[in-house]
Amino acid sequence: MSLVNRREAIGYAAGFAAAAMLPAAAFSDARQKLEYPPLLDASKSGLFQLQAQSGTTRFHGNAASETIGYNQGYLGPTIRLQTGAETRVEVRNTLNEPVSAHWHGLLVAGEFDGGPHQAIAPGNTWAPVLSLDQPPATAWYHSHVHGATARQVMFGLAGVLHVTDGEDDNRGLPSAYGVDDLTLVLQDRQFNRRDGLTYDVGMHQSMNGFRGDAMLVNGQAGASAAVPKGIVRCRVVNGSNARIYRLSLSDARPFHLVATDGGFLDRPVALNRVMLAPGERVEVLIDFTDGQDSVLMSDDIANSAMSGMMGGGSGGRFAVLPFTVDTTLPVRIGALPDTLDGQLPDLASRDAPVRRLSLDMSMGMGMMMSRSGNQFSINGAPFDQNTVNFATSLNGTERWIVSGDMMMHPFHIHGVRFQVLSENGRQPRAENRGWKDTVLVAGEVELAITFDKPASNSAPYMYHCHILEHEDGGMMGQFSVA
Ligand code: C2O
Ligand code: CU
Ligand code: CU
Repeated sequence: MSLVNRREAIGYAAGFAAAAMLPAAAFSDARQKLEYPPLLDASKSGLFQLQAQSGTTRFHGNAASETIGYNQGYLGPTIRLQTGAETRVEVRNTLNEPVSAHWHGLLVAGEFDGGPHQAIAPGNTWAPVLSLDQPPATAWYHSHVHGATARQVMFGLAGVLHVTDGEDDNRGLPSAYGVDDLTLVLQDRQFNRRDGLTYDVGMHQSMNGFRGDAMLVNGQAGASAAVPKGIVRCRVVNGSNARIYRLSLSDARPFHLVATDGGFLDRPVALNRVMLAPGERVEVLIDFTDGQDSVLMSDDIANSAMSGMMGGGSGGRFAVLPFTVDTTLPVRIGALPDTLDGQLPDLASRDAPVRRLSLDMSMGMGMMMSRSGNQFSINGAPFDQNTVNFATSLNGTERWIVSGDMMMHPFHIHGVRFQVLSENGRQPRAENRGWKDTVLVAGEVELAITFDKPASNSAPYMYHCHILEHEDGGMMGQFSVA
């Protein structure tokens, strides 16, 4: 491990006043090579199977943690899906509690969405058909059973989706899985004294969302990624329950943002920092042609009812993932593309009907005293699975003005992609100018949304805060599209 890296690591631990020290294994000198989830390529076959199962995972040394995953012990395979085609899926639940597989970022009809209404009972199989006509994108999947989502994702029920049209080579983009096209799932976690994964949410975390003091990438602690001496594409997924990352590189080299949640931009945008809230994805290119190693870092972003809406950093910065140039790896792409074929959203929305949503949390005495006293809601109404909050019309456009109470909330909508028109009355920041399905609300955002897929009253779409403890606590609603 490099010196810079160790200094940063120590700085991180020291900056974390209230938290325990990072597990030593995360900073041992014997770094493991980062592994990528197995690639399940359904782009030619048009079918795949997932099985929710329990497992034992060794995150640190020999300590075993009881975990859950899809087709493996923790997390699930990366699934490659062909757009313009139909994919048949089977999801089998071998656990003894209901689970689901929600396709976060796929534009599919409500009945195939995998939200709370498509919970799979123990022993059962759910067989959706994913008929995709969206542009290429990095999406993800995770369990979404109301009240259990935070715990089930914490223990492993999540994975990544690559929607592809098979044209990335023509775009000049890296596309060799795990070589120059890297899938990175960022999750902060907590380990107990015996190095076992724990999720014991006290009063503070049930209010503000869970934040762990150990960093996992693809379910691994203390790994480093080998990269070729060329252009590398990172598909970064924030799969954390509540932590917001503000990513940078240790030597201040830029990221070249090429895609947001919903797909490609029209050209790469150089950025020194990239914010990534829970549920969001970015694709960035990093130029390693100079052969120099670098470390993916994050600012420690405070976000609690105490810190208020502006959040901001605690001043701490921590290492997420070291990149080590390996000259034995093939250099497939040696230069950044000038342009991309993505279309930036431009939804003519002046006359679109306006809907106002406020993400509410109340912190009364009840909340301070007991977990069950938490009050999370949208427009004052906590989620009720038997109430569809409103109906919208298929192929219509709406403008949503979403505001958040007390702290920052990543707001997500199922079944659509949207344009961020403004953030607190200003032009959206660079990361929010492409197509989105999740956006961090730090005050107020204005969105333009088109509804392209149907969702019935019995299989409505969700909209919610993607801090999973808030979602489970009731900061969620549902709507139909017909
Ligand atoms: Cu990523 Cu409703 O979820
Ligand atoms: Cu979703
Ligand atoms: Cu929230």
